Amino acid sequence: MSSFWSWFIIIVTVANILACLWLIRWTAKPRPGEASANETTGHVWDGNLTEWNKPMPRWWLNLFYITIVFSLIYLVLYPGLGNFDGLLGWSQYKAYEEEVEAVREQVAPLYDRYAEVPIPQLANNDEAMATGGRIFANNCAVCHGADGRGAPGFPSLADGAWIHGGDPETIVKTITSGRQGQMPSFEAALGVRGVEEVAAYVYSLNGREIAPAAELEAGKKRFQQVCAGCHGADGTGNQQIGAPNLTDDSWLYSGSLAAIKKTIVDGRKGRMPAFEESLGPDRVHVVAAYVYGLSNEGASSDE
Ligand code: HEC
Ligand code: HEC
Repeated sequence: MSSFWSWFIIIVTVANILACLWLIRWTAKPRPGEASANETTGHVWDGNLTEWNKPMPRWWLNLFYITIVFSLIYLVLYPGLGNFDGLLGWSQYKAYEEEVEAVREQVAPLYDRYAEVPIPQLANNDEAMATGGRIFANNCAVCHGADGRGAPGFPSLADGAWIHGGDPETIVKTITSGRQGQMPSFEAALGVRGVEEVAAYVYSLNGREIAPAAELEAGKKRFQQVCAGCHGADGTGNQQIGAPNLTDDSWLYSGSLAAIKKTIVDGRKGRMPAFEESLGPDRVHVVAAYVYGLSNEGASSDE
């Protein structure tokens, strides 16, 4: 706030309070020339209704004085007068920070305890998993679904099939640093006919056939030349570079022939955001255990 508006507010506020004080003192005094205390004002309504002209009761006036004193003390201690911070230095922002800090201190010992438990064991701790479920609902469910079963473009975390890997360390790394999936476009390299053949072949990798054997054979040959470098000669993928397994019937982009063709023609760019900063290592540890538990139920019961 500019100092002009600051002073404007200070002067108007203080002037208002002083005006209230003056008004109370002025109305409390009987005015000279008027009828003295305990007499009527001389006004008469409805024939016989008259009005006493008495000063206001003391206790009533004192209440007004108390509110004025209160407002002055308040404005000296707390922010209210323009840019003046108040002697106590209180601010909404600081109060909020203190509350957040208090909660953090309260839960810190809990997270410290969880941090020492290996993820497979932590996944069997109901209390920790209730917390992990809340972190998941707040940060991950928008993309991976409330139950972690995913949606087209967002992988299921509950089906036991992993693009990047499902061991505890890899899950932690995925959540901490995020992931970028890069599938290039192969429209130019394959041509229309080539796309048809390779798509039919990938489709057939899951035990579903739609094309004659000769076409599948041609598709297989092209796959070996163009795709195997990333997805492996047998199509089972490569977790090091995040190339999905194409034979497990678990799909990032749905397994329809149309979706497979679209991936080959347009390429894909899946992006998993990094949560290192927003969650911090202790929360990542707990939510990683929650994710681990989605596909490893009762994995380790030796607590
Ligand atoms: C903005 C959407 C989005 C949010 C939010 C998100 N993810 Fe992801 N996540 C993705 C995408 C997309 C992928 C696939 C990345 C790829 O294409 O390789 C992914 C991949 C993953 C994987 C790897 C799966 C595999 O098969 O290897 C894990 C584990 C994961 N996410 C966990 C989480 C957790 C835990 C959270 C919350 C803390 C979260 N994600 C929040 C979009 C999201
Ligand atoms: C440079 C490495 C690379 C090559 C070469 C490559 N891919 Fe991919 N492919 C990927 C990656 C990485 C993804 C995951 C994309 C994502 O995470 O968004 C992917 C995804 C896919 C998917 C989607 C899988 C799903 O679960 O929905 C299909 C289908 C696919 N590739 C087929 C092929 C075919 C067919 C070829 C050969 C024409 C090929 N890819 C060549 C890296 C590659």
